[in-house]
Amino acid sequence: MTELATPYYLIDESRLKRNLEIIRQVRERSGAKSVLALKCFSTWCVFDLMRQYMDGTTSSSLYEARLGHEEFGGETHAYSVGFSRAEVLAVREFADKLIFNSVSQLRQFYPEVAGLNLGLRVNPGISYSRFDLADPARRYSRLGVRNKAEISEALPWIKGLMFHFNCENADIEHFRAALATIGREYGELLHRMEWVSLGGGLSFTQEGYPLETFCEALRTFGQSFDIQVYLEPGEAAVTQSTELVTTVLDVVHNEIDIAIVDASLEAHMLDHLIYRTNPRLASPPPGEHRMMIAGRTCLAGDVFGDFKLACPLQIGDEVRIADAGGYTMVQVNWFNGVSMPAIVVRRLDGQVECVRTFGYEDFKRSLS
Ligand SMILES: Cc1ncc(COP(=O)(O)O)c(C=O)c1O
Repeated sequence: MTELATPYYLIDESRLKRNLEIIRQVRERSGAKSVLALKCFSTWCVFDLMRQYMDGTTSSSLYEARLGHEEFGGETHAYSVGFSRAEVLAVREFADKLIFNSVSQLRQFYPEVAGLNLGLRVNPGISYSRFDLADPARRYSRLGVRNKAEISEALPWIKGLMFHFNCENADIEHFRAALATIGREYGELLHRMEWVSLGGGLSFTQEGYPLETFCEALRTFGQSFDIQVYLEPGEAAVTQSTELVTTVLDVVHNEIDIAIVDASLEAHMLDHLIYRTNPRLASPPPGEHRMMIAGRTCLAGDVFGDFKLACPLQIGDEVRIADAGGYTMVQVNWFNGVSMPAIVVRRLDGQVECVRTFGYEDFKRSLS
């Protein structure tokens, strides 16, 4: 490993497989199929492994849908908050399911897509999210159809409904209660559909999650409405699989010791900046020495966190940021022109493969 130049994302296939095996178990025990939410993770060099455990992909745009179709295979679900006509014409060539965000979009494009397996996103008015920013049912939300009468009118055109209403939900009782509400409120419509997607945002691959209860809830829901249930895991599929490996470039002092690493929270783990959260460290280990670890862009708040470490960091030391797989690589940017982390995979057999490096030409080409 030492010859690899930092920064790089290190995806560990064995850790990925642990999540994937749970996803497969859920499939076997509950009948719910899982499609990977590419918005969370689109790093296709590990799709050979992932496709063995999942049924396909779901997407937020034409490009994601195309990537899923080309590189993952299986079922390709195409959804977008707003499709253009050109995108609908392109996506209809390969999508297995085409999910519209509004009845207005469905009406607009129906002549082009009649006969395809169409779906509609519903906003059930309930949700689980610690962040207003990510709450699909927040006030004035544009995500999905709120008006039941409108959905009923569209029923003859569609075969499925998509409900995405969770964000990082590890609370099984909350999920069960939400399923009961959806069953009660939309049961009549669900009886007339072939499939229902319950979206993502469920932390069911997390250590200690009550899988048996989860599977039972999904199985009962599917049976009650005689319907194929889908899940759209993103984070749950890749959680704890990836590290961002960096090197300390400098140590400065301003009341506290601050290590500046050769990566950036803003450019390489942007989600944490957006949600004002801090990642955990995979190494060095915790201890008594207070040390801030910061990124190298000019943004004052480009800070990974204020940590307590076993020993103070020195220039040249390695720092590994944990859980750097979901909503990271899909959001990288070239802010400040800082070097883009390479993509490295530790394969199941232990071989470490540097799959992609990025250089000045990539930076230049992204701008003109
Ligand atoms: C429609 C839809 N499906 C699936 C997901 C994946 O969610 P997660 O990565 O939290 O599992 C999202 C995330 O925003 C989403 O909007």
